[in-house]
Amino acid sequence: MPALKAHTWLIGFMGSGKSSVGLLLAEKLCCRFIDTDAHISQEVHLSVEAIFHTCGESYFRELEGKLIQQICQLDPSIIATGGGMPIFHPLQGLGTIIYLQVDFEVLLERLEQDSHIRPLFKNTDQLYRLYQERCPLYRALAHHTTNANQPVKKVVQELLTLHLSY
Ligand code: S3P
Repeated sequence: MPALKAHTWLIGFMGSGKSSVGLLLAEKLCCRFIDTDAHISQEVHLSVEAIFHTCGESYFRELEGKLIQQICQLDPSIIATGGGMPIFHPLQGLGTIIYLQVDFEVLLERLEQDSHIRPLFKNTDQLYRLYQERCPLYRALAHHTTNANQPVKKVVQELLTLHLSY
């Protein structure tokens, strides 16, 4: 498999599988994997939920911005972004952007089974509004949109095929 030529940013709504897909993809391509939420959480020794709760969302967004600058100094990597990162920060020009598209019903099922606490998931109506608002933005930003309703291994397989063309 040819080496990664530029950063690959995985974007998409909460629960779209960015972290699981990114981890496996990076393993297959033998390159660095960065999970932005996990990285921020380690840096400040607080969960993302606790950062939102104690310092506010704007502080979390500041940390995201700083992390993007740090990532830009690194060799090409696979990056799983938090769902709001591409909404609050411009990622254009920083590498290849891939949107993991998942239907709302599938997301809901995944998020309900997931023990991970998401500060922006308050109720289904509010989540659906956010989903409708963000989906067109993700699509517009992405160089490629992939169907991530499928199991992680299948998504990774598609991205590996796609990788050969970028
Ligand atoms: C957010 C998504 C979360 C996390 C934070 C904000 C968002 O990441 O960054 O809670 O704005 O959609 P995941 O997409 O990994 O859940």
